Amino acid sequence: MELVKVSNYEEMSKKASDILFDVIKENEKPVIGLATGSTPEGTYQELIKKLNSSDIDQNNITTFNLDEYVGLDKNHEQSYSYYMYEKFFNHVSIPQENIHLLNGKAEFADTEVKAYEEAIDEAGIDVQLLGIGRNGHIAFNEPGTSFDSVTHIVDLTPETIEDNSRFFDELGEVPSKAFTMGLKSIMKADKIVILIYGENKKEALEALLSGEVTVDNPASVLNNHKDVTIIADNAAIGE
Ligand code: F6R
Repeated sequence: MELVKVSNYEEMSKKASDILFDVIKENEKPVIGLATGSTPEGTYQELIKKLNSSDIDQNNITTFNLDEYVGLDKNHEQSYSYYMYEKFFNHVSIPQENIHLLNGKAEFADTEVKAYEEAIDEAGIDVQLLGIGRNGHIAFNEPGTSFDSVTHIVDLTPETIEDNSRFFDELGEVPSKAFTMGLKSIMKADKIVILIYGENKKEALEALLSGEVTVDNPASVLNNHKDVTIIADNAAIGE
């Protein structure tokens, strides 16, 4: 794993978007894995600028998102689908049919997760963008998740529900279940970029860098991947 130290959020966003943009330029039909949350917002702003000021044919880009709350419609303001359109897709010209998002309202959860994993396998993700939870979760894979997990449905931990409640009017409105790509699905990507920002992620970064690989720390599986770039700011590093 390579650790890239940055001094602020802007630098993190620029570095992350550079990596994604390089992969997009290098591949004829680039497939990028995307994350939601506070951390990658700046990355999307930078990537929008890069894509729209280049002569890249965006028709060739395919995306897969990591996760979605169960029960939220794609137009619900707190759904990850809504976030992705607001922060990214509405500002670029990637074709609808190339955008893969889990459907929080899917009638048959089993069919939804199976089809999603098959689509990932068929496309092959070139680069996967990740954030990290305080407890080391990546996507919605909470501590204890098997390293062999593929796209599945999960019960969110009280800690994650509380962290995410800042986006909802009240705690009780936060869904308790989510669809998520599994740890194995994430590890299939050729390249992984993980953003770790702020003092409250210090312990998660420390645990990742310790090299200890354990299901108690989902992000630790990344130690087994051949091409991971961690972009972390001074506060997360503890400097
Ligand atoms: C979101 C996701 C989550 C977040 C994590 C950190 O798609 O997969 O694992 O990356 O919860 O969220 P922020 O960036 O809001 O701290």
